[in-house]
Amino acid sequence: MFIIQPLLFEPFTIRGVTLKNRIVMSPMCMYSCYEQDGIVTPWHLTHYTSRAVGQTGLIMTEAAAVSPQGRISPEDLGIWDDSHIDGLSALVKSIQDNGSKAAIQIAHAGRKAMIDGPIIAPSTIAFSDKMKTPEEMTLEQIEETVNQFRAAAKRAKSAGFDIIEIHGAHGYLINEFLSPLSNRRTDSYGGNQQKRYRFLQEIIAAVRLEWDGPLFVRISANDYHPEGNTPEDYVTYASWMKEDGVDLIDCSSGAVVPAKINVYPGYQVPFADKIRNSADIATAAVGLITTGRQAEEILQNERADLIFIGREFLKDPYWPRSAAEDLGIDIQSPKQYERGW
Ligand SMILES: Cc1cc2nc3c(=O)[nH]c(=O)nc-3n(C[C@H](O)[C@H](O)[C@H](O)COP(=O)(O)O)c2cc1C
Repeated sequence: MFIIQPLLFEPFTIRGVTLKNRIVMSPMCMYSCYEQDGIVTPWHLTHYTSRAVGQTGLIMTEAAAVSPQGRISPEDLGIWDDSHIDGLSALVKSIQDNGSKAAIQIAHAGRKAMIDGPIIAPSTIAFSDKMKTPEEMTLEQIEETVNQFRAAAKRAKSAGFDIIEIHGAHGYLINEFLSPLSNRRTDSYGGNQQKRYRFLQEIIAAVRLEWDGPLFVRISANDYHPEGNTPEDYVTYASWMKEDGVDLIDCSSGAVVPAKINVYPGYQVPFADKIRNSADIATAAVGLITTGRQAEEILQNERADLIFIGREFLKDPYWPRSAAEDLGIDIQSPKQYERGW
């Protein structure tokens, strides 16, 4: 191929942590905590370790809930209790032993929690008529939730993770505060953009009390709704997050309301590009990026710093190898597989 030195396989350092390449396994819920206790199961160990064997630079876990009430489903991974630390430590060790760095996405599902019992959100507006109506969070519940994110960060550190990502996208709790479509509060957590940001700002500050490593935030950079947040709004949010100590913005989009999205290869890349180049912060691109050449285009044109791969990794645990092949280069295999690669 025409590229001498593909950026995709160049190391990337962020706040002192070096990834061996720019490929990140995107967070994907596995709904595999069959006992509904949030504890890592053999499935997680096999699933994530396979992608580390496949030479992925960074493996990010699926959304791990900061409270039982914040689970998307009862089978979600958890980080709300110290009993989760042992399983997460074993997972981190297995990923790192196979040459990848390990990240955890910490999350609260808000009004999209599909669990028994009451659910909470900034305002009493259901996501759709098929979903439960949430309770409006009191100031005490807001403070408690911020503290749950802090405790989750502390546990992530104990478990040995290299990177933490706060889930602020896809219409879950933090996204519900950010969007005027789901946040109708009239107190200091709702109203103008600054007030809607306050909840996330407090979470970032609380996490930073426990965590001095790289901190990512996943956002939904577009609500795809005339009265919702736009990519321009997220340039402002990103510049605030940078000031508040966030290192990278992981640019996804949508799902705060059931709006239609036009999906095509690289459809979210313009958001990563705009935020990176307007707010001067590192970004990740995600969404229908399927080939090495597509990833390389994004990096060479300075549209993003990292490439998150989701569903392709469900089909091909050795996607980095396929991407290298597409770019016409060889990458190192695990020692054990040298005769096959
Ligand atoms: C099975 C599945 C589970 C997912 N779970 C999460 C999740 O836990 N957290 C998150 O931020 N995104 C989640 N996503 C979204 C992916 O991380 C990714 O952004 C999306 O699939 C688009 O990238 P892709 O086209 O490479 O798959 C999930 C996607 C899939 C397919």
